[in-house]
Amino acid sequence: MNRGRRLRQSQNIRNLVSETKVSKSSLIYPIFIQEGNNIKDEIKAMPNQFRYSVDTVSFEIENLLKQGINNVILFGIPDKKDSVGTGAYIENGIIQKALREIKKNFNEITCITDVCMCEYTNHGHCGILDKNNIVDNDKTIQILGKIATSHIEAGADIVAPSDMMDGRIKEIRKALDNKGFVNTPIISYAVKYASAFYGPFREAADSAPSFGDRKTYQMDFRNRNEAIKEAFYDIEEGADIIMVKPALSYLDIIRDIKNRINLPVCAYSVSGEYSMIKLAGEKGLIDEDKIIIETTTSMYRAGSDILITYFAKEIAKFIDEGRF
Ligand code: PBG
Repeated sequence: MNRGRRLRQSQNIRNLVSETKVSKSSLIYPIFIQEGNNIKDEIKAMPNQFRYSVDTVSFEIENLLKQGINNVILFGIPDKKDSVGTGAYIENGIIQKALREIKKNFNEITCITDVCMCEYTNHGHCGILDKNNIVDNDKTIQILGKIATSHIEAGADIVAPSDMMDGRIKEIRKALDNKGFVNTPIISYAVKYASAFYGPFREAADSAPSFGDRKTYQMDFRNRNEAIKEAFYDIEEGADIIMVKPALSYLDIIRDIKNRINLPVCAYSVSGEYSMIKLAGEKGLIDEDKIIIETTTSMYRAGSDILITYFAKEIAKFIDEGRF
């Protein structure tokens, strides 16, 4: 009997017939940028991930480009917050300054920006609150349009709204088109679950809600059909790429989406996924490299075309070493 062993006889043959290919061109690396000078501070909850200031971020971009990583998603940490998230769209906001600096130094990097208000509001919610402290969906999407436009004006290439308000893609598309940015793509965090895996990120971005949670706008992780519904709404409103987030506990969802839609699918392997592997690796409980390779492969196998991951640099190195 030889039911496939013939094709497993050497690494070259295994590579030849491998059903899952992981490529550098599909990786997106997240970067946190804060106010200040000369900063490269390690994020305690995410070993080996850093917050940069506008003047140091270019060193990191240069490293990434050298490794063949051409895409970043930027998160801003402002020094002032208010109840309506003004810092998210002002001309001298942290992201706007970072974009101008990065684009001055490099034109080969694709800058994606996270469009959301939670890092900029003093209550930490992803939108404006009404009298009853409930997020006002329709007022919030107006501001999201302003935020997205301000990012593109400062040099961003793609916007990625992560707020989960209803109708935001349509509103952002309209705002961009009105300013003539008709060719700017939108990656929609269409399928974003209310997840405990975001824990370390909230420390990194200082964006934990000061009261309540995000369960009224993020998805319930018991639901699978709802993911398809969310994706279809966003496609209809003009999304160009559909994101599923988190990734590792949601491989079934990634596959469902991949089977049902005809747009590129992007998975976001989030902070909690990173920190669990990193810390277990540091303690010697798992073989970190092999776990990175296996989990990353599973995300592509599930159907991701694009992956946002804090392990992008490790993955690029393993690709160079022929380990994928
Ligand atoms: C919201 C946002 C979050 C993440 C990305 N964008 C946090 C949240 O929704 O609470 C999480 C990413 C991660 O955990 O790595 N701006």
